[in-house]
Amino acid sequence: MKLSKRLEAIFQMVPKGSIVADIGCDHGFLPITLVQEKICSKAYACDLREKPLHKAVEMIEKCQLQEQVIPLLRNGIDNLPDDVDTIVIAGMGFETIKMILENNLSILSKYKRWIIQSNTDVEQLRYWLYQHNGFILDEDIVYEGHYYQILSFSFDEGKKLTEDDCLFGINLYQHPLFKPMWKYHLDKLHHILEQIPKTNKSYEEIHNYKKRIEEIL
Ligand SMILES: C[S@@+](CC[C@H](N)C(=O)[O-])C[C@H]1O[C@@H](n2cnc3c(N)ncnc32)[C@H](O)[C@@H]1O
Repeated sequence: MKLSKRLEAIFQMVPKGSIVADIGCDHGFLPITLVQEKICSKAYACDLREKPLHKAVEMIEKCQLQEQVIPLLRNGIDNLPDDVDTIVIAGMGFETIKMILENNLSILSKYKRWIIQSNTDVEQLRYWLYQHNGFILDEDIVYEGHYYQILSFSFDEGKKLTEDDCLFGINLYQHPLFKPMWKYHLDKLHHILEQIPKTNKSYEEIHNYKKRIEEIL
């Protein structure tokens, strides 16, 4: 199965030998490919809604992987099987991801590895990790019509994030898409500042944020 660039980057972050629960699997492409490519011997395709889960079930059957890719109707990480050690959450906004994390705060550290691609507010996701003792292990950026940032992290020991880490990521400065992504972001901020009066209470905050990005670039 040919994955999109975004899903391929997520695929690359999954440790070989892990048992993944893909939360919000929709069509199930990721868990199916993880099993097909022998990264996982077993994976769970989880979704909150019957309709997307049904798409995954059809795809699992088409690929004849019923023994290894198990569909589960679940809200977030509620009641996952005990053998899951890696959680993937991709293609959702930060508010939904935050809700999934906060609904099960007491069991987050049970999972060895987390791979999250939030469609929105990636800085807030990193800040949330900072506040909840999450340690980022790796990050990637993908361009596919939008810039997507993908984070791999754990709640075990690791280096505490700094303020700059929360904004710019831990290892992205040399990434070929780092500058284009932030230049794109800067243009949007520039446009916002042109639209709002200097007396607006957000003006200074956005202005300072823009200055910090310009310094880094
Ligand atoms: C846009 S799709 C993303 C599909 C796939 N993960 C990807 O990145 O291409 C989002 C999926 O998340 C599911 N979803 C939303 N909230 C969820 C939750 N709390 N628990 C499980 N699945 C959820 C939706 O039903 C939908 O199928």
